[in-house]
Amino acid sequence: MNVGVLYSRIRRDEKLLLSELRDRGHEVTKIDVRKERFGVHDAPAAFEDVDIVVDRCLATSRSRYVTRFVDAYGIPVVNDPETAAICADKARNSLVLAEAGVPTPATEVTFTKESAMESIEEFGYPCVLKPVIGSWGRLMAKIDSRDAAEAILEHKETLGHYEHKVFYIQEFVEKPGRDIRVVTTDGEPVAAMARASDHWLTNAARGAETEQIEITGEMAALVERASDAVGGGLLGVDLMETGDSYTVHEVNHTVEFKALNDVSDVDVPATVVDWLEATVQGVEVTA
Ligand SMILES: Nc1ncnc2c1ncn2[C@@H]1O[C@H](COP(=O)(O)OP(=O)(O)O)[C@@H](O)[C@H]1O
Ligand SMILES: [Mg+2]
Repeated sequence: MNVGVLYSRIRRDEKLLLSELRDRGHEVTKIDVRKERFGVHDAPAAFEDVDIVVDRCLATSRSRYVTRFVDAYGIPVVNDPETAAICADKARNSLVLAEAGVPTPATEVTFTKESAMESIEEFGYPCVLKPVIGSWGRLMAKIDSRDAAEAILEHKETLGHYEHKVFYIQEFVEKPGRDIRVVTTDGEPVAAMARASDHWLTNAARGAETEQIEITGEMAALVERASDAVGGGLLGVDLMETGDSYTVHEVNHTVEFKALNDVSDVDVPATVVDWLEATVQGVEVTA
């Protein structure tokens, strides 16, 4: 097969994927989204021979648009633009998880700092304020007091981009110093790791300690439902342990897997390519 890989920077994740594809004799068309011009009528020439496109753009804004264009060109794309749009937005992400009955932290969205303050006071301290668009734990606030809340809300309202005027407020989950990342392909868990840190943010990108963990039956059932809720595809499901169960705080759409591959005895890129091959075959059979 010929796999189009949309990128703006080739990280170790993309290198792993590209070398696995090439080792199996697949063709790879690297498409630098910074250089392409996406017409509404015609696909750029780079897309001519590709069977499937994998979006590996770092910037959420690029991912969201580029997947729409590729889909409009009639080329299968991982992930689907609707899935990308849901996962790119924490408010939509939480909403679909709740709609699907997947346990997810109590969350409210407000549009003024006054209503945000009401929400914060009702959640109590600490609670969490997140940007609706963002990753790697950036611009996340754990709010410990009313004074802190007022300051953060005023800063956001005065200095923020328009999307920071959407206030996303969440209960603080007393997790056991770690959270869990499960990479999934259409709901099937590939591998899982725990990310532990003394800091309340436990993103691998912020230097949390990572270790492989076993995927329990309960976890597998939950990540499948979370994956279905956003439309499936190649995803990273984030969970927190809540004592006797789990809560899913987000599903990621251009998932990084190098950290997971490092700690896991599963060959993550190989499993992802197995799934891509099966997906392309499925597409061809039904076409
Ligand atoms: N409600 C919460 N309570 C406690 N910790 C949280 C909560 N939400 C997120 N975290 C911590 O913050 C990290 C980043 O949050 P997340 O919602 O996944 O945003 P990002 O998209 O930046 O990764 C999580 O990995 C988790 O450790
Ligand atoms: Mg996360």
